[in-house]
Amino acid sequence: RPRVLSGIQPTAGSFHLGNYLGAVRQWVALQETHDAFYMVVDLHAITVPQDPAELRANTRLAAAQLLAAGLDPERCTLFVQSHVPEHAQLGWVMNCLTGFGEASRMTQFKDKSAKQGAERATVGLFTYPILQVADILLYQADQVPVGEDQRQHIELTRDLAERFNGRFGRTFTLPAPYILKETAKIYDLQDPQIKMSKSASTPKGLINLLDEPKATAKKVKSAVTDTDTVIRFDPAGKPGVSNLLTILSTLTGTGVAELEQGYEGKGYGALKTDLAEVMVDFVTPFRARTQEFLDDPETLDSLLAKGAEKARAVAAETLAQTYDRVGFLPAK
Ligand code: TYM
Repeated sequence: RPRVLSGIQPTAGSFHLGNYLGAVRQWVALQETHDAFYMVVDLHAITVPQDPAELRANTRLAAAQLLAAGLDPERCTLFVQSHVPEHAQLGWVMNCLTGFGEASRMTQFKDKSAKQGAERATVGLFTYPILQVADILLYQADQVPVGEDQRQHIELTRDLAERFNGRFGRTFTLPAPYILKETAKIYDLQDPQIKMSKSASTPKGLINLLDEPKATAKKVKSAVTDTDTVIRFDPAGKPGVSNLLTILSTLTGTGVAELEQGYEGKGYGALKTDLAEVMVDFVTPFRARTQEFLDDPETLDSLLAKGAEKARAVAAETLAQTYDRVGFLPAK
């Protein structure tokens, strides 16, 4: 079985629809066909300030949501990044292989540090992509299921894997991005030119999966479309409508062309009403299942401990080989 690896940050509150459609949905499907490793990346989370108690709670919350979304610990390895110390250890080796200029060209870093101000951005934020490289290489992943915004980090991973292999002998598998075209980038409902994200300008454009279903329906109904009335998939000309069609198509499994036909002669109101209903049907059980996992933290924690144990077995082997190749003296 080919191997996949991916990660998600333990953000406050809940995952948003972009996380789910762009990544987590694929994770659920891939656990059936691939040797799958998925993690909550708490080491990455502290690249920006975190309240300790909240970070801990958000890490559990993230794991609960992943389970609610359909990850099955019998079918995949689900774990918390900090439970596997090899991530930080391989991260250091990768830091020492990365050029300063190379790291400076990472667009996510440039965006995030510009927002925070250069003085406040941490060195951890700067080396964030390099830790991600270590995450992927530790598991010798063949594919990395993510949204479009992570593509550059996977390119960096390939570059560093090739560099290491060239310098020290073949050690790492070169991973490929696994990015589905249709859902690579889900857009903000109020500003369909920008991707849906927690840092969006207005909360109205962001669908949080754990929000009150009623609030979600309201956000869908007030999504920005355009002054035309025709329901047609045309991302350049009709970004708002196209985004709604993508979401509806993915959640219902109905092709976009078929949806277009079905809405012929109908207005945006009909599309929004239908999507609002589909969204409510999706988030209602999702919320309930997440709450069930949260209500039993002992089971959740022990499930994560088992995941970490499985992950460590793989990670330790790769790290040992890497340390040997680099020339570290083995501890007797
Ligand atoms: P994160 O936590 O920001 O996002 C998790 C996943 O959601 C995807 N995503 C989207 N997809 C489509 N449309 C959107 N609007 C949208 N917003 C977010 C992201 O592309 C991502 O796949 N750096 C990563 C976490 C990470 C990781 C890794 C991923 C750490 N180590 C190793 C893969 C492999 C991140 O911050 O994702």
